[in-house]
This record gives sequence, structure tokens and C-alpha cells, in this order.
Amino acid sequence: MSILVTGGAGFLGSHVAVELLEADYDVVVADNYVNSVPKAIGRVEEITGKKIKTYGADVSSDEELDRIFTENEIEAVIHCAGLKAVGESVEKPLLYYKVNLETAIATLQAMERHGVRGFVFSSSATVYGENCPVPYTEDMPAGGCTNPYGWTKYMIERIAIDAAKTGKIDAVLLRYFNPIGAHPSGLIGEDPAGIPNNLMPYISQVAVGRREKLSIFGDDYPTPDGTGVRDYIHVVDLAKGHVLAIEYMKEHRGYEIINLGTGRGTSVLELVHAFERVNNVPIPHVITERRAGDLAEVWAVADKARRLLGWTAELTVEDMCRDSYNWQKKNPNGYGN
Ligand code: UD1
Repeated sequence: MSILVTGGAGFLGSHVAVELLEADYDVVVADNYVNSVPKAIGRVEEITGKKIKTYGADVSSDEELDRIFTENEIEAVIHCAGLKAVGESVEKPLLYYKVNLETAIATLQAMERHGVRGFVFSSSATVYGENCPVPYTEDMPAGGCTNPYGWTKYMIERIAIDAAKTGKIDAVLLRYFNPIGAHPSGLIGEDPAGIPNNLMPYISQVAVGRREKLSIFGDDYPTPDGTGVRDYIHVVDLAKGHVLAIEYMKEHRGYEIINLGTGRGTSVLELVHAFERVNNVPIPHVITERRAGDLAEVWAVADKARRLLGWTAELTVEDMCRDSYNWQKKNPNGYGN
């Protein structure tokens, strides 16, 4: 029996694949490499010393999915495939709705056709949005998304919940806070195309001299030092949460929404200073305008993950800074070098 990881060559998916293999699951990956490279899979195999059956497939295709489900005994699916750049989603909303919704629906339909119940979904804290006061709990009325990317996450949650209500699917919808860090081997990590949109990849690229300086988007937020506060979570901790979600679904039917965060907020300046301290490298930075759509503070209440999955984040902000830099130093140009 295998776990199918869609988008398994991506930042999240590759770390999830490592943790599944370490927990003795067989892994099948389906990825169309739109925002990832096959090399990442080779690196996962190098870390774990295990083989992954890989399909260079688009999971919006019923035919490709039928082939994967027929050729393998799939026990459950971890659905990480999808487009994820917030800014791009504002420019190309129809592309985001088409790709993200089609891949999710086609995957769920293939599961139904092949009698596979377990669906773990990469959702995001972005679904809480501006309607919800921090810290976020799963029972808050989500749906205050500020961009099409966020709405696709919200809609796929709804779709999976309705599918679960038929009794044919079990779903664990994981709302990620801000995943950063990298596998401690430095063999896999985040490799954004072009100029990074997110904070940690930008800091890491400044650290290795690929970018001149970091722009900090606003220092006049109502936070202790005026910069934005987020709940950063180590990608390895996050990946372990997926393995526990698979275990949970062996014993439980229906659906659950679960935050994966640390329950602690860190400001942009705190993260920059931690990175400088841990890695002994300067991060030149300037304060610029706020970025449209950004919230002052985002952090999780992580109790439900502990209660239901027995999961808590173990790695610290220092670990995240060390591992992000280690990956970037070893791969200054990402997988492209
Ligand atoms: C963003 C998305 C979120 C998505 C997540 C993926 C928005 C509103 N949210 O979260 O939907 O799931 O990425 O990881 O876009 N910052 C700087 N300088 C930079 C980059 C970021 O100061 O060059 C600041 C931001 O203003 C923010 C913090 O760093 O306060 C974190 O930003 P980022 O890493 O982009 O994540 P989010 O915006 O929280």
C-alpha cells in the first residue's frame, strides 16, 4: 500500500515524501513540474535511501489518475499539487481557479472511482483572512480571503467537506501557517522561481549574495516592533503533521480542519535578527511601504493538532533560520545549479 503525494516534487511535497518514507510508507509521487523539478525526487531518495515511484503527470487528467490508481495500491492521498503565488493569482485568477479546483476535484473523483478514502489537503491559514481576530482557531468563520489563491484553498476545503459528507471520503484539511526552513541535510528546500515573494527565501538569497537587500514591508503595524507578525513553522515539523494525519484517518471517518502552526508569533525584524545571529551573516535591509493585502498579525492556536493528531511543532525559529541558510548555501541557485 502506498501514499500518493500530488505535487510531491515541490517544497512541501518533497518534505512530506521524506517523512512518509522515514515512517515506512511507500510513496508514489505525481507532479507536472510546473513549479518544481524531478531532481527534488532524486534528493528525497538520497536522503532516505528509498525509491519513489514517480509520475510526471497532471492530476487534473482523469486518464493519468486512473493509470496511477490502477498501477499502484493507493491507501490515501496527500494533495499538495496546485499554484501558490499570491500576486500571480491576482493577475491570473481564472488560471488559479481552473488549475487548483480542477486538480482537487479530479483527484477526489479518482479516489471515489478507485475506492480510496483518505484525503489530506494542503490548506492555508490565509482562509481565515481579515474577518477573524488572532489567534486563529479552526471553528472561526473562515472565508475572509484577500486573493484568488486563498479563495481556491477555501473552496477546495468546502469541496472536500461535501465529498466527506457522502461517506465515501475522509478528509483532513491542514491549514498551514508560514512554512520555512528546509531538511537539515540541505538536499531539499524552497526554490522559488524568479524573485521570491515570501520572506524567508528572500532573506536566504540576500544572505548568499544573490539579492542586495531585503525590503521590510512596513514598520508601522500595531505590533511590538511595528513589523508584521507571523507564525513560522519548520517545514519538517509540518511534514510530520501529514504523516500523523494519515495515521488519524485509519481510525476516524468524516472530516477535520486542523491548524498546523506553532502558536507563537515572530515579527519580520525578529526573524531577520535571529537569522543574522544564528548564521553569523548580515542581512542588509530597508523599511519600505506596506504590501497590499498583508495583515498585521497571524498566528495559530495549535491545540487541536495536539489533541487529535498528537502533533506539536518541535523545531525553533533558530532551527528554521539555520536550515534555510544551510539549504541556500549548498544550493545558491536552488535546484538549477
Ligand atoms: C503569504 C500569503 C499566504 C500564503 C503564504 C505562503 C499573503 C497575504 N499571504 O503569507 O496566503 O499561504 O504566503 O507561504 O500574501 N515580508 C517582508 N519583505 C518581503 C517579504 C515579506 O517584509 O520581502 C513580510 C510580510 O509583509 C509579512 C511577512 O514578511 O509580514 C511574511 O510574508 P510572507 O513570507 O510573504 O508570508 P505571508 O504574507 O504571511
